[in-house]
Amino acid sequence: MTRLRDATLGIDFGTSNSAMAVRQGSGRARLLALEGTATGLPTALFFNTEDQRTHFGRDAIEQYLSGTEGRLMRSLKSLLGSALLQDKTVVHNSAVSYQDIIALFLQMLAQQARSALGGLPERVLLGRPVHFVDDNPERDQQAQAALQQAAHDAGFGEVSFQLEPIAAALDYEQRISQESLVLVVDIGGGTSDFTVVRLGPQRAGKADRSGDVLATTGVHIGGTDFDRKLSQARVMPLLGLGHIGPHGREVPSKVFHDLSTWHLIQWLYAPQALREAQALRSDYRQPALHARLMAVLQQRLGHRVAEAVEQAKIGVSAQGHAAPVRLEWLEPNLQALLSPDEMEHDLQALLAQVVACARACLQLAGVPAQGRGVDAIYLTGGSSALRSLRRALALAFPDTPQVEGDLFGGVASGLACAGD
Ligand SMILES: Nc1ncnc2c1ncn2[C@@H]1O[C@H](COP(=O)(O)OP(=O)(O)OP(=O)(O)O)[C@@H](O)[C@H]1O
Ligand SMILES: [Mg+2]
Repeated sequence: MTRLRDATLGIDFGTSNSAMAVRQGSGRARLLALEGTATGLPTALFFNTEDQRTHFGRDAIEQYLSGTEGRLMRSLKSLLGSALLQDKTVVHNSAVSYQDIIALFLQMLAQQARSALGGLPERVLLGRPVHFVDDNPERDQQAQAALQQAAHDAGFGEVSFQLEPIAAALDYEQRISQESLVLVVDIGGGTSDFTVVRLGPQRAGKADRSGDVLATTGVHIGGTDFDRKLSQARVMPLLGLGHIGPHGREVPSKVFHDLSTWHLIQWLYAPQALREAQALRSDYRQPALHARLMAVLQQRLGHRVAEAVEQAKIGVSAQGHAAPVRLEWLEPNLQALLSPDEMEHDLQALLAQVVACARACLQLAGVPAQGRGVDAIYLTGGSSALRSLRRALALAFPDTPQVEGDLFGGVASGLACAGD
């Protein structure tokens, strides 16, 4: 296999989006274009049953949304470390595990790297969250081993791992001119990761940076959890969540939990799961709500609901005013309105856990949260754009300026810089 000498490839395999960057010699890291000119690619696959081809990224999502017959898979990284990873599913008439599907996505990235660079770089670094799985070192180790195996099967050969927040810090370091102590905050789709690190132009060239990393912490909460929470609060009630049935009991909530969880949606389309959902009919007083639930499941519209919730979340976060969760494709005039106050209310408990994890990182590093603590909070990851998160961080660390980084490409660039 040709290997490009003196080059490093950084791969950010994200829950929601992936990116790759290359660094040659002592040059700057450069993000690779993965879909047209876009350097970020949604971590999504679509198995098209009509043309029997596998589609990736935006193309995959568009095929699904346009109603093409086939199966969409998203948030596969959330399955690392879970027993579901080895479950087999049928795609293009053969049974494959979800780990194999991750390998398929990585294989597409390997092909992209080969065609952009003429071969694969000698060193390949993959990012990983501080914890794939919270409070379970054994399953966490299994998650990394499974990702390593998938990367090997995809043709990357030997890969090394670096923590995603440390990679983000190394990217930020390329842009600062003075030495500083920084709290890196990386809030992605699946996890929130933190590190307190000493950065500076003089330190950037050092081979061993372990002495500069004062602490790392992470928690398995990210944008997909925010989507779940918002869906359960604002959309699932339209399908029967919290609905009191003829026997005075609420409709069992499991189906709504799975339907609002990106990586669990596809299991609801299995024949057994559909039968179970059908049997919920007697738990409803209003049959129209059950009919809506069944329409979503039978027409495999679960990702479409999740997508509508995510778009509303991003709309509220970006514009600061209410945005509709648009569901008129399910039923004429059906929508749920999401206001900034409601979103703040729905996400409060999750955001508090994220901020607690940031506090724990400073505490571990022995740095005070107020006064002369860190010099800056560096924000990266798509979910760090949430206004309510930024406000919560400003309340917790009132004296520290927040700096916004490259929200979607920073980890890949930093990984490419971490190869030495
Ligand atoms: N403007 C925005 N406001 C709030 N959330 C946003 C915004 N833009 C994107 N997001 C959310 O950011 C998340 C994706 O971020 P990112 O691409 O950094 O995650 P990732 O790297 O794939 O995940 P992870 O690092 O956890 O594996 C999604 O949940 C998306 O909904
Ligand atoms: Mg990320």
